[in-house]
Amino acid sequence: MLKNWIHRNVDEREYLDYHRKAVKEYQQHWEVIARELEWFSPWTKVVEETDKAHVFKWFVGGTTNISYLALDRHAKTWRRHKLAFIWEGEPVDEQGRPKEVRKFTYYDLWREVNRVAYAMRTKLGLKRGDRIAIYLPMIPELPIFMLAAARLGVIFTVIFSGFTAENIANRVNDLNASLIVTADGVYRRGKILRLKEIVDESLKFTPSVQRVVVVRRLGGELSLTQRDVTLDELLKGVPPNTYVDPERMESNEVLYVLYTSGTTGRPKGMIHDHGGYATLLHATMKWVFDARDDDVYFCTADIGWVTGHSYIVFGPLIEGLTSVMYEGTLDFPAPDRWWSIVERYGVTILYTSPTAVRTLMKFGDDLVKKHDLSTLRIIHSVGEPINPSAWRWLFEVVGGSRAPVGSTWWMTETGGIMISYLPGLMLVPMKPGSNGYPLPGIDVDVLDESGNPVKPGERGYLVIRNPWPGMPAAPTGVWGDHERYVKTYWSKYKDLFYAGDYAVKDSDGYIWVAGRADEVMKVSGHRIGTYELESVLVAHRAVSEAAVIGVPDEVKGEVPIAYVVLKTGNQPSEEMRKELVDWIRKNYGPIATPRALFFVNKLPKTRSGKIMRRLMRSVATNSPLGDTTTLEDASSVEEVRTAYEEFV
Ligand code: WTA
Repeated sequence: MLKNWIHRNVDEREYLDYHRKAVKEYQQHWEVIARELEWFSPWTKVVEETDKAHVFKWFVGGTTNISYLALDRHAKTWRRHKLAFIWEGEPVDEQGRPKEVRKFTYYDLWREVNRVAYAMRTKLGLKRGDRIAIYLPMIPELPIFMLAAARLGVIFTVIFSGFTAENIANRVNDLNASLIVTADGVYRRGKILRLKEIVDESLKFTPSVQRVVVVRRLGGELSLTQRDVTLDELLKGVPPNTYVDPERMESNEVLYVLYTSGTTGRPKGMIHDHGGYATLLHATMKWVFDARDDDVYFCTADIGWVTGHSYIVFGPLIEGLTSVMYEGTLDFPAPDRWWSIVERYGVTILYTSPTAVRTLMKFGDDLVKKHDLSTLRIIHSVGEPINPSAWRWLFEVVGGSRAPVGSTWWMTETGGIMISYLPGLMLVPMKPGSNGYPLPGIDVDVLDESGNPVKPGERGYLVIRNPWPGMPAAPTGVWGDHERYVKTYWSKYKDLFYAGDYAVKDSDGYIWVAGRADEVMKVSGHRIGTYELESVLVAHRAVSEAAVIGVPDEVKGEVPIAYVVLKTGNQPSEEMRKELVDWIRKNYGPIATPRALFFVNKLPKTRSGKIMRRLMRSVATNSPLGDTTTLEDASSVEEVRTAYEEFV
């Protein structure tokens, strides 16, 4: 029997020994952790592959509900009056102090979630298995609706509030959602963004939507139709002590679907479940963040992305932590907003991103040193590789050389952290830029093209060998498209999960993830498929063909640049360039604004007609072209080169 290590520190030798055992006996290893959660009824089998290839069920037959784990479990103990969330709105007064702070104890949050769940069930007729979309900004109602849906067994998808009507429609239609929850608007860098108007636009293309719930964040005039109902209206007459029994969810029932970009086609809806997902979050909150009852935890992500799902909403609540949730941008009213938050609430654990760090570094150390950050004891980053200078700055300037700084590797698909330093379990010497060892029970390898492990220090493809709780869940891994799930993750190598990242394992066994190995960009940590932006461009009346590539950027990590072939009868012009850039902003979102957009007569393609983005990237990064034998017309590359060189 494997020991339960979760509550004690071990040394490196013990740890590596345990690691070897946990990889082999991974079922037992995860079972020990799952037992720490609460189950309405026990499982009969730890893990089994379903009749759909590579879709695994964890803790089969066990019943629980993640909303119960996140709320009820604490609401019945002394944590009832412990703060779950401290929420801070963006606007500030003349002295620069936040105008709005809302605090929720576990009891408050539990009661609020129960009321909303009750209204969803009785007034909107929602029941287990129904699907809804949540298009809310960073306000407390976002986690409240996620938890209320989970409580009822209603499947939800959260849509990042920076996305456009088209993105909403695609997701809502894929999920066939009957309801959208939104807000009248949100404050963003001192400006107002009207979300309800964007939802109204999307509704022209979403026949499945019957009702829209509107949370009033801004107040003031609001034009509502028959279909709309405000949250205040919905909660009218629902008593504060309303209780809704949480649905007994079989561990593998769908909790949520979160859409993420890949190399082709529309974003895929990754499925996560109740039991396995909660188990992985519990383990990682303990090991990676060393979550303790006296911590104040601040994750700077947006809940619209997976980091927010796992490490603002479900993970910290399952642990009974106090979290800070911040509505706005990092530089409003000044680029020390986060440091002021850390100081004012005594934040002890910070989870942030390399892009944010690089942005804030530019403003110098004084803005950080102005604040007392001595409470910080653990810092982690996520989303892209962290460059050594950003790591040093986090470690020395932000953490005062006291707090360990990690770079946690994982992805929307994995549900939670897979590779990370584990200050909660053991500490090994840190190497700036490295991700550290895989988590116990996670069998990570780095392979060459033919599936053999590469030598230490050589670059290869990152794979995961064992199934893990929190992995893409039943029934199909990718919502409604099992084939795509298999093709994307399980076809490059037999029976191994292919992550799509380049990585290096060094001679000490540390993993260094280097970045995407496919046509996916990481722009300020946001995952964007080049294909998606190309689709947006060719939907414009004047565009015949388009190619998008990501190029390195000092702050954002990567930024898109676009090459466009116009339809005959359209002339390249400055106005046309501007129009197309605006077109991307409007139809995908401002996060995808290209740094440059070029007009060319021809795109570099293979003889079979595939766009050779690799060559375009070589041009943009000034590196050797490599093999060009499949290129259909060499002049196309020259054109791309001239366009790019004129630009730089
Ligand atoms: C990248 C975000 C290097 C990687 C949680 C992965 C990282 C993609 C790291 C997933 C890290 C994430 N070091 N690269 N610490 N963390 N990545 O789905 O390329 O938005 O495949 O999930 O981010 O992005 P996603």
